[in-house]
Amino acid sequence: MNFNLIRRPRRNRINKSVRALVSENQLRVSDLIMPLFVIEGENKKQEISSMPGIFRFSRDLLVRECEKLYKLGVPAVVLFPALNDSLKDKTATESYNDLGLYQRTLKDIKKAVPELTLMTDVAMDPYSSDGHDGYVNDKGEIENDRTLEILAKMSLSQAQAGADIIAPSDMMDGRVAYLREALDQNGFENVGILSYTAKYASSYYGPFREALESAPKQGDKKTYQMDPANVREALLETQEDIEEGADMIMVKPGLPYLDVVRAVSEVSLVPVAVYNVSGEYSMAKAAGLNGWIDYQKVVLETLLSFKRAGADMILSYHTAEAAKWLKEN
Ligand code: PBG
Repeated sequence: MNFNLIRRPRRNRINKSVRALVSENQLRVSDLIMPLFVIEGENKKQEISSMPGIFRFSRDLLVRECEKLYKLGVPAVVLFPALNDSLKDKTATESYNDLGLYQRTLKDIKKAVPELTLMTDVAMDPYSSDGHDGYVNDKGEIENDRTLEILAKMSLSQAQAGADIIAPSDMMDGRVAYLREALDQNGFENVGILSYTAKYASSYYGPFREALESAPKQGDKKTYQMDPANVREALLETQEDIEEGADMIMVKPGLPYLDVVRAVSEVSLVPVAVYNVSGEYSMAKAAGLNGWIDYQKVVLETLLSFKRAGADMILSYHTAEAAKWLKEN
């Protein structure tokens, strides 16, 4: 049969090299940022039960992890502290203790791997006896402006300890402008801000809260984190954060919010990050360990989907594994 088809899209898929030529998006190790959890002590490595393969490390071992990641070509890490309950209080005092676990860890990493970009998390929850990102008053409300004062102290303490980029994940209004001002007034004008711009009140954070034992004691986070139903609101947050001086912005979670990544990246004039969060990791890992999916292929496809949606960088617990796979290829 002689069938004249003008367009045969399969011609551009005919072999590996043609497919490489027409490939629109690439996943590179330099797109990836590894989240890490630190605990007090020495030579300690505790696996998080809902995140097989992910650990809370004591400072000494965490520094070794950072060295390994940097050797693999991973450009940045973001650090979270798992604190003993005895250090948590209503005003997150420990968060701006210059001699605290978090600050000591930042200094150690900076000293051992100065070229690795150090990102810090700015929010009260790991240090708060209420388990909220902001200050909870007597009426049980999260007080925006009172929280900003605490976040500023936290940011300065982190910058002092060596943070290259602070990442406020608290979702308080006006925090980018407030923190920018605090950093600038204290000589940290070169410390960047990666804002968690569109952070949703998501059930995908469950394993992370287990890792830090940071779940809210009362209520939920819906008065500050965004409603999963909304996308226009993400554009408003984007506009605000860029006007307030954010150097980079973020959408979180990742996979269930690829449409938001697309929408935000189309209007943003600053680079866009996406956070492939703990629950997303756990689902892929569990299916992989059960032999239900090809874990490596599913993870690389997932990470590439973030690039296709418009993200410039990806925070992911798969980073260490993916970096190894990308190196082998
Ligand atoms: C809290 C914070 C959370 C995550 C990062 N920073 C959890 C929350 O808002 O309750 C979640 C990360 C993840 O699930 O991997 N400021």
